Amino acid sequence: MKTTVSTLKKQKENKEKITMLTCYDYSMAKLMDEAGIEILLIGDSLGNTMLGYDTTLPVTMEDMIAHTAAVSRGAKNAFVLADMPFMSYQTSVYDAVVNAGRLMKEGHAHGVKLEGGARVCPQIEAIVAADIPVCAHIGLTPQSINAFGGFKVQGKSEEAARQLVEDAKKVEAAGASMLVMECVPAKLAEIITNTISIPTIGIGAGAGCDGQVLVNQDMLGMFHDFTPKFVKQFANVGEIMMQAFKDYSAEVKAGTFPAQEHTYAISDEVIDKLY
Ligand code: KIV
Ligand code: NA
Repeated sequence: MKTTVSTLKKQKENKEKITMLTCYDYSMAKLMDEAGIEILLIGDSLGNTMLGYDTTLPVTMEDMIAHTAAVSRGAKNAFVLADMPFMSYQTSVYDAVVNAGRLMKEGHAHGVKLEGGARVCPQIEAIVAADIPVCAHIGLTPQSINAFGGFKVQGKSEEAARQLVEDAKKVEAAGASMLVMECVPAKLAEIITNTISIPTIGIGAGAGCDGQVLVNQDMLGMFHDFTPKFVKQFANVGEIMMQAFKDYSAEVKAGTFPAQEHTYAISDEVIDKLY
């Protein structure tokens, strides 16, 4: 069954948890889609995991479009959600609509995600007015790292908690159809989830959210530059890959790979004629 904004809304109503993972390429999209992951997020975290930047700030629209298009080609049933990169929507409402449109037209996304609450509501309204579903993202928003002065849990003080609740209500009122909450205390994320009627997806926000998201490389144990507390490693694929690379290297150096079965034949007659 295809996942859409309406099936996601229904899942919240029926208290059926929503699954989201970040995904950046075609082959991974095919695997996740077949596994039944409902939302594939082309996160701008690809700046870290795929491109090796320290932050998500250098990620461009072209990066996002290329990866989104690749994921879209591999997704049959999953909802393809593309992050709007730094400076693709902060600059103006006009830029936000144009760039959201590019992720849809060129990346074949089904919706876009942007960071911020009340302050990006004009952008959310305008994108939604263009019939593009929007997922908001509050709490720890990595594009704000320089303003935050580092990565930490958000919404711990009464004022900050109140602000997050307000932000959640405002993005819903602006027409967002989903809300990601990152590094928000579990109890607060649960209150927000029960306060708004759009699905909430948590990362470091506890089990009270309507759904969960993790970064693909984190949950597979393939990325160790930094590992936040909220990551659960579901498999150690990094170790399996490392062993495969070492085995390959050893076999090539020993001359045992390729073997006969990996080799193309030619008739002796042709070979004889060469000399
Ligand atoms: O870019 C990303 O991976 C994200 C998720 C962590 C929600 O925005
Ligand atoms: Na992101």
